[in-house]
Amino acid sequence: MKKEKIILTGDRPTGRLHIGHYVGSLKGRVELQNAGDYSKMFVFIADSQALTDNIDNPEKVRQNVIEVALDYLACGLDPEKATIFIQSQIPELCELTFYYMDLVSVSRLQRNPTVKTEIQMRNFEASIPVGFFTYPISQAADITAFRATTVPVGEDQEPMLEQAREIVRRFNHIYGETLVEPEILLPQNAACLRLPGTDGKAKMSKSLGNCIYLSDTADEIQKKVMSMYTDPGHIRVQDPGKIEGNTVFTYLDAFSRPEHFERYLPDYPNLAELKAHYQRGGLGDVKVKRFLNAIMQETLEPIRNRRKEFEKDIPGIYEMLRKGCEVARAAAADTLSDVKKAMKINYFDDKELIEEQARRFAANQ
Ligand code: TRP
Repeated sequence: MKKEKIILTGDRPTGRLHIGHYVGSLKGRVELQNAGDYSKMFVFIADSQALTDNIDNPEKVRQNVIEVALDYLACGLDPEKATIFIQSQIPELCELTFYYMDLVSVSRLQRNPTVKTEIQMRNFEASIPVGFFTYPISQAADITAFRATTVPVGEDQEPMLEQAREIVRRFNHIYGETLVEPEILLPQNAACLRLPGTDGKAKMSKSLGNCIYLSDTADEIQKKVMSMYTDPGHIRVQDPGKIEGNTVFTYLDAFSRPEHFERYLPDYPNLAELKAHYQRGGLGDVKVKRFLNAIMQETLEPIRNRRKEFEKDIPGIYEMLRKGCEVARAAAADTLSDVKKAMKINYFDDKELIEEQARRFAANQ
C-alpha cells in the first residue's frame, strides 16, 4: 500500500470549542496543515455522533455545527488545504458502519473505557441507546473511509483508535488488504493532553461551566482566569504554594512561551523560576493569574478577531462546507467500493461473476 500521510479528525458539535480542544488537538491540526507534510487532510463536524446522545435535542446539534465551523476557521484551518465537512452528509459512513458491526463483539464494546465513563456521565446505565453504544464502530468508519493514517485527537480518544485498528486488522485478515490502519497523534506537551477546567476539575466541560471558550470576550477570559482554582492551602503571599494540581500552573505549562516572560514578567527568566518562587513562598496568586491572563489574551485575541470576520459571511461558510462534503463523499465512496468488492457484494460491476455463473448454469441446461 502507498505510504502517503492522510490526516483526519473531527469534533462533536455540542457546544462552542474551548481552549481544551485548542491545545489538545486544534492547534496541532493547524500546525500539521501548515507544515504541508501530508497528502490530504480531512476535518469534520461529527453531528451524527453528537446525535447519539442528543437524539431529543437536534436543534442544539444543528446550531453548534456553524459554531464549530467558525471555531475551525478562526483557529486557522484553511479550506484550501483541508477538506472540512459534516458527517451526516456522507451516507457512505453509515454503510461502512453497518458492515463493521459484524466484526466487533458486544463484550468488546462494553470494555471501551471512554464509552464506560460516558455511559455513567449520562445516566445511560439502565437504557443505553444502541447507536450510542456502537459509536466507536461508526468512528472507525469515519477514520477508515478516508484511509486516514494519522488521527490528531485528545487522550480520551485512544480507545476509539484502538477499536478502529482492531476493525482494520480483522477486516484485512478476513477479506484481504483493503483498509489502512490509523495511528493516533497526541499532543507532545503533557499539560495539553487533558487540560483541566478552570475549577481544577479533571475535564473542561460545558455542563460543569468550567470552560474558557475560543470565542469568549476579553472580559470573560479575565474573569475566568482571575477566579481560577489554585492551591487552597496558599492563603497568604508568604506561604509556600503547591504547583501540583494548581490549575494556573497547568495552564502556564500548556500556554506559556519564553517570550511571554520577556514581555509580561521580565523578573523571571522562565517558568521553572516562577514555579520555584511560588513553592518557596512570597509569590501571590494574583500576580501569577495576571501573567496567565496576559498570555491568554494574547493567544485568544487573534482567534476571536478572525472569528468575527468569518461571522460576517455565514452563507459563505455553508457553501464551503457543502463543497467539503462533496469532496469527502467522493473519497468515502471510493473506499466503500473497495470494501464492497472485498466483501463480494459488488454484483453489478463484476462482469466475471455474471459470465461465470451464466456459463455454469448453461452447462447444466
Ligand atoms: N469522538 C470525537 C469527539 O468526541 C469526535 C469524532 C468522531 C472523531 N469521529 C471521529 C475524532 C474520527 C477523530 C476521528 O470529539
